[in-house]
Amino acid sequence: MRYGYFDDAAREYVIDRVGVPVSFTNYLGTQRMGTVISHNAGGYSWLDSPQHHRITRFRPNGVPMDWPGHYVYIRDEENGKYWSLSWQPTGLPEEAAKYEARHGMSYSRFLCDCEGIHGEQTLFIPRESGDEDPVEIFDVHVTNRSDRERTLSVFGYVEFSFHEIDMDNQNFQMSLYAAGSHYEHDAVLCELHYEKNAWQFLAGNFVPDGFEGVREAFIGPYRTERNPLGVETGRLGGSTELGGNPCGALQKKLTLKPGEEKRVLFYLGTGRGDAADRARERYDEAGTDRAFEELRRFWDGKLGMLQVTTPHENMNRSLNIWNLYQSEVNVLFSRFSSFIEVGGRTGLGYRDTAQDAMCIPHAEPEMCRKRICQLLHGQMSEGYGLHLFDPAVLEKGEDDGFKSPTVIPETDKKSMLHGIRDACADDALWLIPAIVEYVRESGDLSFFDTVIPFADEGKASVWDHMKAALDFSYSQTGAHGVTKGLRADWNDCLNLGGGESAMVAFLLIWATNHFLDAACFLERGEDEVKYRQLKEQMEKICRQQLWDGEWFLRGFTAKGAPIGSAAAREGKVHMESNTWAVISGAADRKQGLSCMDAVDEWLYTPWGLMLNAPSFVTLDDSIGFVTRVYPGVKENGAIFSHPNPWAWVAECMLGRGNRAMKFYDALLPENQNDKMEIRQAEPYSYCQFVMGKDHTAHGRARHPFMTGSSGWAYYAATRYMLGIRPEFDGLTVDPCIPAEWDGFEAVRKWRGAEYRITVINRNHAEKGVARILADGKPVDRIPVFPDGVHWITVEMK
Ligand code: GLC
Repeated sequence: MRYGYFDDAAREYVIDRVGVPVSFTNYLGTQRMGTVISHNAGGYSWLDSPQHHRITRFRPNGVPMDWPGHYVYIRDEENGKYWSLSWQPTGLPEEAAKYEARHGMSYSRFLCDCEGIHGEQTLFIPRESGDEDPVEIFDVHVTNRSDRERTLSVFGYVEFSFHEIDMDNQNFQMSLYAAGSHYEHDAVLCELHYEKNAWQFLAGNFVPDGFEGVREAFIGPYRTERNPLGVETGRLGGSTELGGNPCGALQKKLTLKPGEEKRVLFYLGTGRGDAADRARERYDEAGTDRAFEELRRFWDGKLGMLQVTTPHENMNRSLNIWNLYQSEVNVLFSRFSSFIEVGGRTGLGYRDTAQDAMCIPHAEPEMCRKRICQLLHGQMSEGYGLHLFDPAVLEKGEDDGFKSPTVIPETDKKSMLHGIRDACADDALWLIPAIVEYVRESGDLSFFDTVIPFADEGKASVWDHMKAALDFSYSQTGAHGVTKGLRADWNDCLNLGGGESAMVAFLLIWATNHFLDAACFLERGEDEVKYRQLKEQMEKICRQQLWDGEWFLRGFTAKGAPIGSAAAREGKVHMESNTWAVISGAADRKQGLSCMDAVDEWLYTPWGLMLNAPSFVTLDDSIGFVTRVYPGVKENGAIFSHPNPWAWVAECMLGRGNRAMKFYDALLPENQNDKMEIRQAEPYSYCQFVMGKDHTAHGRARHPFMTGSSGWAYYAATRYMLGIRPEFDGLTVDPCIPAEWDGFEAVRKWRGAEYRITVINRNHAEKGVARILADGKPVDRIPVFPDGVHWITVEMK
């Protein structure tokens, strides 16, 4: 069963059956202001931080599931009938109105045909420059498709938030008297009386025919957004109050001749009436069109950095549009703003952010660099990373922003620093490939010498920060000589403490490989020798201590018991250790083939690869929280999406393109568009996990958008399956594809030049390059061209 389809030309996903069992979300905003919005226009906005500066309110985990939102209602003034332009909140039955929702690149559009009136509401946040205040625009078009003149009212409505998530959700004896509503400059304002400059507004490009600033006045007693009193009566009474729950509701009356179309603009932003005036001025009709075009051009530019044409339609669709888009949303908003993470946490998760930044430096170089620098600042001088930290607090020294009237202890810099007891063994290691990939992409070798402070004390060059991370990890070894798991490794629920983690050992080897590549290129010989030795020693230990006969162990508990062995009844085979054994290069070929065969045999499902199998059912705290998680859910035997691409990389390194594609296809959201009765999640977004075989809801996907699987899927598919990898001094094209492919084409922009790549697979190989031509001349490797368009032909063996 499906609920929508892909409109590739418009780069939109179109939901034409709006009664989706879970709401399908999208993200608006590309800079400071963000909105997460459902296909029903439900959702919320924030400025900079979803925890500290919420603009509109959301009722998390609620019934209905995605209320309230950024709504537009239409009322027929002749007969009093009314409806919303998005299907919800009025929720008219199919016979009464036809609805469609379109999620695009940083905008969403809601279309409705009802009572001879065609309505469209587009929500987007223009890209601002300099000190401009960001606003969200509701661009509303109403067309009279009936044959008589119509008199209508258009209402824009939002429920404001008390800014601070805690204020919004608790201690209402205080919160309800700390915010008020006002009306000035034809705009409804919400004021947070306890904060400096804490104003937000809803305005229109018109003088309103009515307004409400008090939620209860607009909605009315014992009603909801489905049947608000203000819309039902067609009269807004002009309420404002100091205290209560402020809302923004504006009414505009329209008369439309048959066939006539009119446009109404609403602006949701922060600031007072003068900010509303500036929004009106900047985004009049022409300004709004300009801003929307600019947003389109912005995405053209990003997506244009790599476009591929393969025989696989859904892979093209994913890599050219949705997978990159999702990865960008992650780099931009990190993890804490969705319908699942509803803004109660702020800042950056160390490992997630590092991996996000590692995967898309070609499309998002500035933001990736910024994130990397923030993470370097979040590294302790001992070498480990602060697992979750707010860079703003670190930069300012203390949190001088929000002062709650309810006394809530402040976060200061010191309380954010944590000791090794809370360190996750993998966090800082991800930073090394992220840094090296950034330099490979940008060619900015001087970045290695940029000096950045540590979180606690002292400062060092980026190069020395990397060495600190390596030194820390090489010093943290357990009884078998393998790196310790500490509070957790990549797997939050594997809590080994002093036990040992194969995943971290292999990741350490991989990170060292990236470091050595840079050391070799920069001729930093002393470092090269030192870290090569450490790495080779660790490889030897891993091959000896972690090989179980058919696959690799996941590690050892602190008492030395093996985890993930053939002898175990639960958690026999794990994805992390086996994929990383291959990716790191530590496994020899025989071991690699064997352990990835075990992954296929034990972990493969048509919905993707499970993280481990069989799921744990016996509580064992020496392994960790994973044994307390329901079987088939999240880290315990679910198809955890994030590590799935690791298996694609591993198979590509082994040269098995058919197998890599089998795994890729199983997880690819676009492949599941017609299976929505099972998947129940956006078909354009990777989800954090899909229920595994040991769960009754096997195949159901959960937690869209905010997941590291997106960046990794993009990284694995483009760099390993299609094999297009920038190096310090040349471009590698070394595909590993299904044998049935005749080849593929790609256009890659890199350091100012454009590479038009054609891969020819005449003999239907899975891997191996026989010949490369650059602009018609045979070359050993593709050089860095300073500019221009260059034609690259890669003939496979
Ligand atoms: C979640 C976390 C991520 C972690 C993963 C596995 O996705 O955000 O940091 O690696 O779970 O536990």
